[in-house]
Amino acid sequence: MNSWKTIEDVHVAGRRVLTRLDINVPIENGKVSDDTRIRMSGDTVSDITRRGGIPVIMSHMGRPNGRPETNTSLGQLVPVLEHVFGMPVNFCPETVGPIAEAKTKECRNGELCLIENLRFNPGETNNDAGFAAKLARLGEVYCNDAFSASHRAHASIVGVAELLPAFAGRQLERELHALEAALGSPHRPVIAIVGGSKISTKLAVLENLVTKVDKLVVGGAMANTFLLAKGFKIGRSLVERKMIPAATSVMKAADKRGCHLILPEDIVVSRELKVDADATTVAADACPDDMIILDAGANSTRRIVDAIAGCRTLIWNGPVGAFEMRPFDMATNAIAGAAATLTEAGSLTSVAGGGDTAFALGRSGTTDAFTFVSTAGGAFLEWMEGRNLPGLEALAG
Ligand code: 3PG
Repeated sequence: MNSWKTIEDVHVAGRRVLTRLDINVPIENGKVSDDTRIRMSGDTVSDITRRGGIPVIMSHMGRPNGRPETNTSLGQLVPVLEHVFGMPVNFCPETVGPIAEAKTKECRNGELCLIENLRFNPGETNNDAGFAAKLARLGEVYCNDAFSASHRAHASIVGVAELLPAFAGRQLERELHALEAALGSPHRPVIAIVGGSKISTKLAVLENLVTKVDKLVVGGAMANTFLLAKGFKIGRSLVERKMIPAATSVMKAADKRGCHLILPEDIVVSRELKVDADATTVAADACPDDMIILDAGANSTRRIVDAIAGCRTLIWNGPVGAFEMRPFDMATNAIAGAAATLTEAGSLTSVAGGGDTAFALGRSGTTDAFTFVSTAGGAFLEWMEGRNLPGLEALAG
């Protein structure tokens, strides 16, 4: 931890600072529908500018497969970037090459340069040495402020970090401190909540967490596979039958490691997944044949809230119910509210991450009360799996 440089360690005045952001933001009907990732980078951009540097912003958007395409052009973000960063943005429709180089050199302190989507060039995702060298010509110093892309061994994340003096941006620093506080050297006891629909996508997370945390809550549709593994009836609920042995082995590992595994003891079931559908609560082993499990019940929720109250650190990835639709958001909202209150009272460090989790906390109005909410998806999961992220390793040198 903390083996990388920060802006205090490098000289940025009068220099072009090639700054890797993750401004891969959702666009709906041609408009940015959530600018959180852009706002989060504001400190880094203003810090570089205040110290006399010129941020040359680079990012990916979507997965354009090495070819230019209109709907993932970063050009469409210029007005939002100018608004959020409060600076003129000089957009270069090329990613690398003489035109891009000239454009970055024209930029003055107090302005930003934005180059076109990195993934319009196959060299980005291949971490091609030639492409990284071309990127490195666009700056004298390199800053990584894209934790959410740091699990990718791409040219803008790894290749260029090896060619220029490199430092971590403010958001990346904040993210790493939060994750260190949650899983690296946390105050104990530690509780983790892992929810979402599929155990197959989170098996490695569960396997790592049982070795690290004191209590592990499994929620959401992935808990159904655990219930089935215990021989419970799950009606028409979403399940991954092939993962039953994996669920059984997580339960055994938790037992062996003394990690207290918390599964639903009561469940909210309904005949259909729709807003305000008729719903009823039954015991976890009694889902009727024609029903679907859509949320944790009130007893399960109380048990989870009590478990959190007995802990000093919470790490959370994945909602515990079908939170997008009332009334199946009740458990997720209640847990979020309790964690927020405990955090505000100073008795809990609460770190949450992943797209759905960030969205659920936003909906419940609790984001600001959490110690940290990460917008990273894949990178957050890989961190929870205990893996080394290539972007962080490159930064550490
Ligand atoms: C994300 O949205 O999780 C990041 O921007 C990474 O995107 P990717 O999965 O396409 O690499």
